[in-house]
Amino acid sequence: MRVDRCVCRDVSFARLAEIARSERLDFDALVQRTGCSSVCALCGPYVRLMIRTGETSFDPSDPRIARDQQVLPSEALNDDDPV
Ligand code: FES
Repeated sequence: MRVDRCVCRDVSFARLAEIARSERLDFDALVQRTGCSSVCALCGPYVRLMIRTGETSFDPSDPRIARDQQVLPSEALNDDDPV
């Protein structure tokens, strides 16, 4: 099964790509404009890749997506967190 939309906002990546392209929006501006990636945020890595490549349908096992979802060690360690 391919991923081709923000499920929470029920908007296709094809439509999001059209909006991003025509209004020259980066990821943050597209989120602000459409609400995509602002509910569960699972579509975020796909939307970022869509903006970079223009692709609008993705295999969830695409290593480019997995890389974008990784939490870097420096992000995982927060000295302010109580133990
Ligand atoms: S799938 Fe896009 S915010 Fe949940």
